[in-house]
Amino acid sequence: RRLARALTIEDLRRAGRRTTPRAVFDYVDGAADGEVTAARNIAAFDDTVFVPEGLNPVRDPDLSTVLFGREIAFPLVFSPTGYTRMMHHEGEIAVARVAARAGLPYSLSTVGTTNAGELRRAVPDGDHWFQLYLTNERRLNDELVRRARDAGFSTLLLTIDTAVAGRRLKDVRNGLTIPPTLTVRTVLDMARFPAWCFHKLTTPPIGFASLRSFPGSSADVAAMMFDPGLSYGDLEWLRRVWPGKLLVKGILRPSDARRVVELGADGVVVSNHGGRQLDRTPSTLEVLPEVRDAVGTGPAVLLDGGVRSGQDILAAVALGADAAMVGRAYLYGLMAGGERGVERAVEILRSEYQRALQLLGLDATRKVSGRHVRRAAG
Ligand code: FNR
Repeated sequence: RRLARALTIEDLRRAGRRTTPRAVFDYVDGAADGEVTAARNIAAFDDTVFVPEGLNPVRDPDLSTVLFGREIAFPLVFSPTGYTRMMHHEGEIAVARVAARAGLPYSLSTVGTTNAGELRRAVPDGDHWFQLYLTNERRLNDELVRRARDAGFSTLLLTIDTAVAGRRLKDVRNGLTIPPTLTVRTVLDMARFPAWCFHKLTTPPIGFASLRSFPGSSADVAAMMFDPGLSYGDLEWLRRVWPGKLLVKGILRPSDARRVVELGADGVVVSNHGGRQLDRTPSTLEVLPEVRDAVGTGPAVLLDGGVRSGQDILAAVALGADAAMVGRAYLYGLMAGGERGVERAVEILRSEYQRALQLLGLDATRKVSGRHVRRAAG
């Protein structure tokens, strides 16, 4: 069927575009302002050069890696994405199920449509991480941290690149609100996708499972969620109250990486929010080696932004990441076919990763190094 015919993440993207209302697809696919950063993330991967080593036996390669003392199946982690039930009625639970089956960590967003306790009950055996937006409502912050802890989440990701909301022009032009509101335009858009609408009518309305129900434009939600006052003091507070692993997501400067590690973070996620916040930043792949150099080998360094293939994951690992993270890659699969679509996305990424590793002349993820991959000059 359709999913089996998808050979690449780009194929899933096209399939997702055909099955989802335009405003929803654009919300996933789009980015801020001129979308320069989003394009740069992808271009940086296309510019990498693989230099294979010959005559190495590569039978039965070991794709696994160890992150925070736990083995993961291959160096991939699911990035947090908000409002996931809008993309497909199966939402976060479907994605987390696939991650757990595949032996990969899943990150739940603060603005997810499932909360930490619900996710743990539905997917008891997964390695779940929780992404935190700190708001200026202290009580809410305490509550979110407590729930993640009570639900046995291993790792907390503090997102720091959302002082204010980025401006995603497609969402503004499409009149996207969350939850979706009915206007002539949105009704016409949704009416073209009866399967999507059917599920919207038969499942509970989309609200923020972790917060309270809050109908408004995505910019209104952001205004409530994001705190322009976020500071190092907040990170110090979080380090005191959160006993598990702590990652700071949204780092693009080596000096920032060093500073958050000094304050007790267990690592960083090199991220520009997939180009959805500040436009014109560097690509994440470009700053990755400097960030790794700045913190040394001890702390975890992950990267997201523009990862669309197993080859991209391999390039990220070679240039200094413990693992790559993906947002849109799995959301395209989710839009195209719910849980099975996400499964297909993971299959594609894993088989591409394995093939590239073997063709590079390596039989284990731990042997990947900067010797085999470089960034093209200029
Ligand atoms: C995101 N991202 C995100 N990040 C975060 O910290 N909290 C969130 O709630 C969300 N929500 C969200 C929704 C959607 C639809 C997308 C596409 C992204 C950013 C995400 O975690 C990650 O940084 C990027 O998606 C990585 O880029 P790629 O893989 O999408 O290119």
